[in-house]
Amino acid sequence: MEPMFDVAEIRAQFPILKELVHGKPLVYFDNGATSQKPRRVIKAESAYYATINANVHRGVHTLSTKATEAQEAAREAIRNHINAKHAHEVIFTSGTTAGINLAATSLGQLLLKPGDEVVISGMEHHSNIVPWQLACERHGATLKVIPITESGEWDVVIPALSRNRATPAQGRNDIFNERTRILAISHVSNTLGTINPVKQLIAEAKKHGTVTVVDGAQAIAHLDVDVQDLGCDFYAFSGHKVYGPTGIGVLYGREELLERMPPWQGGGEMIDTVTLEKSTWAKLPFKFEAGTPHIAGIIGLGEAVRWMEDYDKSAMAKHEHALLQHATKKLLTIDGLRIIGTAKEKVGVVSFVIEGVHHYDLGTLLDQQGIAVRTGHHCTQPLMERFGISGTTRASFACFNTIEEIDVMITAAKKAVKMLR
Ligand SMILES: Cc1ncc(COP(=O)(O)O)c(C=O)c1O
Repeated sequence: MEPMFDVAEIRAQFPILKELVHGKPLVYFDNGATSQKPRRVIKAESAYYATINANVHRGVHTLSTKATEAQEAAREAIRNHINAKHAHEVIFTSGTTAGINLAATSLGQLLLKPGDEVVISGMEHHSNIVPWQLACERHGATLKVIPITESGEWDVVIPALSRNRATPAQGRNDIFNERTRILAISHVSNTLGTINPVKQLIAEAKKHGTVTVVDGAQAIAHLDVDVQDLGCDFYAFSGHKVYGPTGIGVLYGREELLERMPPWQGGGEMIDTVTLEKSTWAKLPFKFEAGTPHIAGIIGLGEAVRWMEDYDKSAMAKHEHALLQHATKKLLTIDGLRIIGTAKEKVGVVSFVIEGVHHYDLGTLLDQQGIAVRTGHHCTQPLMERFGISGTTRASFACFNTIEEIDVMITAAKKAVKMLR
């Protein structure tokens, strides 16, 4: 039987969807920037402050014990959600950006020597470019970039994929060599929506002993992420893009590597012993969690993944795919519209440009109709340069969006285009 997906039931759980914007019902298509939060997440976070607020792993008193238990239960829920082997492989950070900076700083120190190479792709978010540029600069390594095709896919030969293709891939096949230490790539592009074949590229990287870091910021809310199946060494994501709170995120890291890596921040919680001459480090995950964590955020994120686990993930993905297909078809009826990112495998993200219409003006007029979309370069300036554009309008969907909302956006966009031309 087809799995049931009741979008009305889902919508009822998101209080913000009842809001009016400029007197119109909110149509929220900016989930790529941050997703909305179900009531359960909001409640879990406020219940922590209202009933068990205390610092974790510090006190012998009841509240501290309860807060610690709630935090560690959230860690376990997240471990289960991404299928990590151990809960201590789940490191709490402030978000994807912090997770990648942790990886780049610490791995850089552990692995990079002058002449080594780090590989990223041309569709990365600035958060998965700049930390690696800094690490390369610090250690005299070189940053190498996988080029992007016209459809918005990696232009790289991956033997496991090429075998299944009618025509062999023409892309770059010199990505890895004996100096390639780190591969850092996004699972899903925030600008294009492309779902990248990360598992296959990771398998190639492994043949060269290359450590792999996946930016999962845009994948975590839409794909069934299994870090052991992907085979990655690191996987970073943000709570606020997966129906959870802002200011909290996760860096999953493989135990063996985390054990070898130096800490990236020093302070309380991350130490075992401190003398004025020297310190030793706490065991995992605390070695990488200096200072008081965002306890309420961790509890909220734990609730967000538990909330997602209550649904059939494939039914959710199917619903979001239907939104993508409908939006793509309808947008293409707008004269002069070009979709940026036409890969075969995509999540519910549509980026587009319209001849004679500036994305900022379109976004402003859509907002007047209560429709929230993102405009600009989406923190992917090199990708904009690749496509020869300054920015796009991006609609990014979540499980609570509907076909009717897309129709509202199309009508509003057509009206806006008429006004702007
Ligand atoms: C692909 C990708 N990576 C990294 C980030 C950075 O996430 P955060 O700002 O939550 O750290 C984003 C945010 O949009 C993203 O889309």
